[in-house]
Amino acid sequence: MDLDIKRLTSIKTSAAFRERMTDLSLDLPIDDSIQKAPESPLAQSMDLGGFKVGNRWAIHPMEGWDATHDGHPTPDLVRRWRRFGESGAKFLWGMEAVAVRPDGRANPNQLMAKPDTIGELVTAAHECLEAHGKSFGTASDLLWGFQLTHSGRFCRPNDKKKLEPKLAYSHPILNRKFNLPPDYPIMSDDDVQDLIEHYVKAAILVDKAGVPFVDIKQCHGYLGHEFLSAFTRKGKYGGETLAERSTFAREIITAIRQVAPKLILGVRLSAFDFVPFKPNPVLASGGNLGPGMPEDYSDCLPYKYGFGINKENPVQFDLSETAQYLKLLKSWGVSVVNISAGSPYYNPHIQRPALFPPSDGYQPAEDPIINVERQIQVVRQLKAAAPEMPLVSSGLTYLQEYMPHVAQALVRQGWTDFAGMGRMVLSYPRIIADSLEKGALETKYICRTFSDCTTAPRNGIKSGCFPLDEYYRTSKEGEQVRQLKKDQKEKLKQVQEAKASV
Ligand SMILES: Cc1cc2nc3c(=O)[nH]c(=O)nc-3n(C[C@H](O)[C@H](O)[C@H](O)COP(=O)(O)O)c2cc1C
Repeated sequence: MDLDIKRLTSIKTSAAFRERMTDLSLDLPIDDSIQKAPESPLAQSMDLGGFKVGNRWAIHPMEGWDATHDGHPTPDLVRRWRRFGESGAKFLWGMEAVAVRPDGRANPNQLMAKPDTIGELVTAAHECLEAHGKSFGTASDLLWGFQLTHSGRFCRPNDKKKLEPKLAYSHPILNRKFNLPPDYPIMSDDDVQDLIEHYVKAAILVDKAGVPFVDIKQCHGYLGHEFLSAFTRKGKYGGETLAERSTFAREIITAIRQVAPKLILGVRLSAFDFVPFKPNPVLASGGNLGPGMPEDYSDCLPYKYGFGINKENPVQFDLSETAQYLKLLKSWGVSVVNISAGSPYYNPHIQRPALFPPSDGYQPAEDPIINVERQIQVVRQLKAAAPEMPLVSSGLTYLQEYMPHVAQALVRQGWTDFAGMGRMVLSYPRIIADSLEKGALETKYICRTFSDCTTAPRNGIKSGCFPLDEYYRTSKEGEQVRQLKKDQKEKLKQVQEAKASV
């Protein structure tokens, strides 16, 4: 099968970029050159919950699977956070996922928010603020905080290889995909209430420690996200209406609003979803995984297992509930929403567009730029539907050297309020400072979406940019990642050759 994928490195000018968008019928604005501060739209400040954020770049939460087993920061983590500070972004959205209860960790090396960790978390964040102040004169216009989470279906709190799921509801395709029987127990309402108390306690800790911002995570298939699609759950935390399915978030957010009225609240939201995907086994060759295709959902229609999804055709989004939800969040006192999509565990292509898949993913079945444009259009439509809610956009790293050109066009046209940056910050944190100060980039550090930062943790290794960050490239983990990719390719090749010879 010939796929129409054109590498961005082969597109040499913004005019050629525009032509490519026209060929693909995509609507993606791009500027001809990078505008420096103070004229750049990305250099403008914005008020969020009474805090004047110094520019329109946000760093997404990026965890490193490198905390201690009791949830404390490590030197690698401090290094990563310092680099976030050195990026020049004035909004550090949550730093990374921090579990509110030990059973809710996505891996045994995830941070936890508790009385004996909060001091070290704040000290690590202060290192980041100090690094930022040193490079940019002041950190007083830098908004930062923590992302509070429970990993729900994707908890691995004790063993990196062992799922210990906590389910909001039984999902016919995901239960099957992750080897859970259809009658695997779902969380009781009492357990959910206990968890809500843990969120509120964590927020109080954070607030008392002087942290200005907290994100109540509702994205990527984790518990807060799963509740939004709990159509089939009985009791007060599930049901047909959005009011019922958002009870979990409402109870957390309104309780935090009461006890910590000054804390600025955000929600990272998977604004739309698709059915789970898998590699197409028929089209796998050359030791590569097959291109992505949807899992069979024919016995699940109308589809009641996703949020922001077209129930009749669940490989399309439907933003009607998402737009309503933004209004609800505003009414509960949430100041800003970070728009993401789907889940890295079951449909990574819609969430982190990449040319090269992680080891548990699949090859692109279409040009990854299509998945970037979808996220951008979703933010644009949501901004139009709920203009009162400031939004951060995600999935922009795949734009590579065109990231600043597109980001500044998006902000100027009011399609988004903040341009968010995920994977690129691991390879090239100074991309923001370079674009705002020099209007030029150092292309050797640009993330080419090799996905090693995801492949490593999927195989029990800490994360980092193994291709481009010298620190990780030359580490023993760097060697391990290269070896495991080689081994995986060889193994796949053998399986494919054996199949072909039958
Ligand atoms: C190594 C790695 C760690 C991540 N950690 C988190 C996290 O802790 N919380 C979160 O909401 N998203 C996390 N993400 C998702 C990113 O924040 C972001 O949404 C995604 O990479 C797409 O943005 P990008 O195209 O700029 O990379 C992570 C992604 C990667 C690759």
